[in-house]
Amino acid sequence: MAIQRVGVIGAGTMGNGIAHVLARCGFNVALCDVEQRFLDRGLGTIAKNLDREVAKNKITADDKVSTLGRIMAVVDRAKLADCDLVIEAATERFEVKSEIFRDLDRMMRPGVILASNTSSISITKIGALTGRADKVIGMHFFNPVPVMKLVEVIRGLATSETTFETVRELAVKLEKTPVEVNDAPGFVSNRVLMPLLNEAMYAVMEGVATAEAVDEVFKLGMAHPMGPLTLADFIGLDVCLDIMRVMQEGLGDPKYRPCPLLIKMVDAGWLGRKSGRGFYTYS
Ligand code: CAA
Repeated sequence: MAIQRVGVIGAGTMGNGIAHVLARCGFNVALCDVEQRFLDRGLGTIAKNLDREVAKNKITADDKVSTLGRIMAVVDRAKLADCDLVIEAATERFEVKSEIFRDLDRMMRPGVILASNTSSISITKIGALTGRADKVIGMHFFNPVPVMKLVEVIRGLATSETTFETVRELAVKLEKTPVEVNDAPGFVSNRVLMPLLNEAMYAVMEGVATAEAVDEVFKLGMAHPMGPLTLADFIGLDVCLDIMRVMQEGLGDPKYRPCPLLIKMVDAGWLGRKSGRGFYTYS
C-alpha cells in the first residue's frame, strides 16, 4: 500500500522536525500532541526552519506555503485513524510510549506500520505491547531533523522484512540515508555517542579541563561540528541521562554508569539549551 498520509505523535523538537521533512517531501501529515499550545509551538518552529531553507534557496516561498498546508495539527489522537503509517516521537519514557502504542494498535487499521523515534528503548518490548509486533519498527531521526542525513532503522525481534523495506523506502523518499541496526540498548548511535559525552563530563567533573577546553579538543582535533558538552546541551542533559540509564540497565556493564555531575545538573534543572543552562548558559 502506498504511503500518503503519515501521523506524527509529539510536536517537540524531534516530532516537528519529522513532520517538517515529511511535509516538505510531499506527504500529508497529521501532527498530534496533547495540548494545542505544543502544536502551535511546533508549527512555529517548522515555519521558522522552512524560512531558513527559503533564505538558502533550497525551497521557494511557495514550497513553504504548500509544505505548511500539508500539515494538519490535531489534539485528538483518533484523527490519525486514516493515516497509512504513524511515527511516534513522544517523551522518551516507556510508560508514555506503552500507552500510545496500545492505543494506536487498537485504533489503526491492521496493516498500518507503527514506528517509534525512540533513541534507546527496546523496539522488541514496544512491539510486544501490540498485536502487530511484525509491523513495529524503530525510525530514529537526528536533531536537527531537516539537516541530519541519517535515519537509524531498528528491527525488533519480530519486525517483518516487508515492514523494514517499507520504512527503508520511506526514509529514502525523505532524502535521508537509512542505516539498518538490530535492537539493542542505545542501538548504534547512542551506544557509541553517549559514553563519549558521559566521559567528557567526567573530564570536566574531575578538573581535567574546562568544558570549553574539552569542546575545543573535539572541534579542532577531531573535526566534530560541536564539542561533546555543547552537543550534550543541544540534545538535553535529561535525555542524555535517560539514555545512559537505559544502557546501564540493559547492558549491565559499569562502564555505562552516568557521570555524577550529569545527575546533579539534571536534578538542578540544568537541562542544557532548552532550560537556558547546562554546561554553558544560553540567553
Ligand atoms: N532546520 C533547517 N535547517 C537548519 C536547521 C534546522 N533546525 N538548523 C540548521 N539548519 C541549516 C542551516 O540553515 C545551514 O544551512 P546551509 O548549510 O545550507 O548553510 C546548516 O543547517 C548549518 O547551520 P548553521 O550554519 O546555522 O550552523 P552550524 O554550521 O553551526 O550547524 C548544526 C549547525 C547542523 C546543528 C551543526 O552544529 C551540527 O551538525 N551539530 C551536530 C549535531 C548532531 O550531532 N546531532 C545529533 C544529535 S544526537 C540525536 O539527535 C539523537 C539522539 O538520540 C540523542
